[in-house]
This record gives sequence, structure tokens and C-alpha cells, in this order.
Amino acid sequence: MALLEVEKVTKRFGGLVALNDVSFSVAQGEILGIIGPNGAGKTTLFSAISGFAPPSSGDVRFDGTSIVGVLPDRLVRRGLIRSFQIVQTFADMTTLDVVTTAALTRRPIREAIDYAAHVLGRVGLAGKEHLTPLTLSLQDKKLLELAKCLATDPRCILLDEVMAGLTMAETDKPIAVVRELNRQGVTIVMVEHVMPVIMQLATRMVVINFGEKIAEGSPADIVKDQHVIDAYFGEHLDA
Ligand SMILES: Nc1ncnc2c1ncn2[C@@H]1O[C@H](COP(=O)(O)OP(=O)(O)OP(=O)(O)O)[C@@H](O)[C@H]1O
Ligand SMILES: [Mg+2]
Repeated sequence: MALLEVEKVTKRFGGLVALNDVSFSVAQGEILGIIGPNGAGKTTLFSAISGFAPPSSGDVRFDGTSIVGVLPDRLVRRGLIRSFQIVQTFADMTTLDVVTTAALTRRPIREAIDYAAHVLGRVGLAGKEHLTPLTLSLQDKKLLELAKCLATDPRCILLDEVMAGLTMAETDKPIAVVRELNRQGVTIVMVEHVMPVIMQLATRMVVINFGEKIAEGSPADIVKDQHVIDAYFGEHLDA
């Protein structure tokens, strides 16, 4: 059975149809890549799945149960978490505070602090526990975003452009973290513009354009699909 099922999801913002009748499913243990041009509806899709902006119509099921209308904090307890494309943090918290807050999802405070320190080490932020996230490099901010997700012990993570803005060399660490998580059984859905990254990580891809799913398949098939080339690669190659 699929772990996550998105069925005929439509999301309207007033007159704008940001998602139109989008359906796909994600099997336990998969890394599903989602690509599409700017404004295609990718972040809206994550918001619709994760309880931040429920669909106008359609259904989302997690582990066989509809989760439409379930609030994000409840979903985190069930094992479904998203990252945010735009990293925002509180000025008066350290990286350890931030990750501890996430770890409190399943642990009492003492354990949460220890676990947060462990998770920071795991993503490569050891030694930066007492820095404020505002002073971190973009790469470290992205790793912190991953650490926040990890600290909740998720079954499924929705990653929204965690590699965007990084150099190819800087993507090595987050790629390794994603691989390692997946090896441990965490299901991953990732929106990513960096094609070499998504091509090497994704087991399957979904392509969204103007709010509609226009293709789905293996990374090798997707890069050959003419609709995808027209909608996405064409635009990027010309840029
Ligand atoms: N809260 C909102 N209210 C009104 N319109 C919105 C809202 N959120 C998104 N939109 C619109 O929905 C469309 C899809 O936006 P979305 O952010 O999901 O795109 P995206 O695929 O994530 O783009 P990007 O690659 O730039 O991150 C856009 O036209 C956007 O302006
Ligand atoms: Mg987006």
C-alpha cells in the first residue's frame, strides 16, 4: 500500500487555480522527486499535503487514512513533516534550541536536548550548537532545516528546495543526509530545481506545470519526455 496518496487535489486562491486535479502516490521507502517551473504549484502542493493550506477539493491519505483538515502539529506526530523553502528562524534561539523544539515532538526535555545534539552532529552541524541560525551560512541553514525535520523522527519528509542556492560541492552534505535517511526507511518527497541532484536521488519523478501534473516516471524517462522538455528544460536552457 502507498504511504502517501494524493487524489484529485485542487487548490484555489480566489480565482487562481494553483493546483488542478493532481493525483499521485508515494510508496513506503521511495524518494519521489517533484519538478516544475517557478509558480507551477509545488510549494502549494506541499502545503496542501502537510495541513498548512488544505485542498479546495480532493483527498490526501497518509498510511491509508484521510488527513485533509488535520493540523500540521498532529501530522508531525503521525510522522509526516515538511521543510520550508524560505528558511525562517527566531533571532533569540540557538541551533540547539531550534532542533530541541522539534525533538520535543516525541521526547521529554532532557532527552530532547541530547537527541537534538545528536541530530545536529548527524547533519554535519556539530560544534555549531550554540550559534544563532541567523549567522549560519546558507548551506548550514539548509542543513538546519533538515535537522529540524529529522528530530521529529518522521516516516515521510516533504523537502522543499533544500539544495536551492547551494554550489554543487555544497550539495554533497545534504545529499548524503537524504540518502542516509532513506536507507533507514524514511520516505522522501523532494521538490528540487537542481537537476543533477534530483536525477541522482529520485527513484521516480512527478512533473507539475501550471498546477497540473504533466508527467510521471523514472528520472531517465522524464528527461526524454517532450512535454517536460517544452515546459521545463526549454525554459531553463534558454535562461
Ligand atoms: N497564499 C497564496 N495566496 C495566493 N496565491 C498564492 C498563494 N500561494 C501561492 N500562490 C500562487 O500559486 C501559484 C503557485 O505557487 P507556488 O509557490 O506553489 O509555486 P512553486 O511551484 O512552489 O514555485 P517556485 O518554484 O517559485 O517555488 C503561484 O501563482 C503563486 O503566486
Ligand atoms: Mg516553491
